Amino acid sequence: MSEQLSEVGFSLATLIHHSAVVSQYAVVESGSVVFANAVINAFAKIGKNCIINTGAIVEHDCIIKDAVHLSPNVALAGNTKVGISTWLGIGSVTKQGVEIGDNSTIGANSTVLNNIPSNVTAVGSPATVK
Ligand SMILES: CC(C)(COP(=O)(O)OP(=O)(O)OC[C@H]1O[C@@H](n2cnc3c(N)ncnc32)[C@H](O)[C@@H]1OP(=O)(O)O)[C@@H](O)C(=O)NCCC(=O)NCCS
Repeated sequence: MSEQLSEVGFSLATLIHHSAVVSQYAVVESGSVVFANAVINAFAKIGKNCIINTGAIVEHDCIIKDAVHLSPNVALAGNTKVGISTWLGIGSVTKQGVEIGDNSTIGANSTVLNNIPSNVTAVGSPATVK
């Protein structure tokens, strides 16, 4: 939908709640929304049309692709990579440097210690594919 809109000349806003803290060295692309009390640290990159929900933390150098939803209180350690259209459930956390593929789901309160492939659901601590 966002591609169709941009083809006809619309550009989507980037919305950042006034209580969120976004480093001047971070990038948040168009169509993304950053909710209250979220923190996005230096050199993190948030793609298009993402939801960075209430209180989520995106640490330094993370790369978040398009259409990702980070639920409330998700915490991504530095250098985490998250693929297109992936959803991290409320309170889930990652170890630094892990890679989560495209179109996957991480269950609520899960702890991602190892890479997670595309198109799967992973739950638990440590998170495993179910
Ligand atoms: C991961 C999730 C999407 C799976 O939903 P589902 O496909 O309906 O799965 P079910 O509830 O049927 O659970 C299937 C199994 O996984 C387990 N499971 C599900 N979510 C889990 C979680 N977060 N942590 C650990 N185990 C979990 C269930 O206990 C069940 O185990 P069993 O087969 O041994 O009984 C869902 O449980 C979840 O965590 N959603 C996140 C919700 C959220 O964060 N909402 C905030 C939006 S802003």
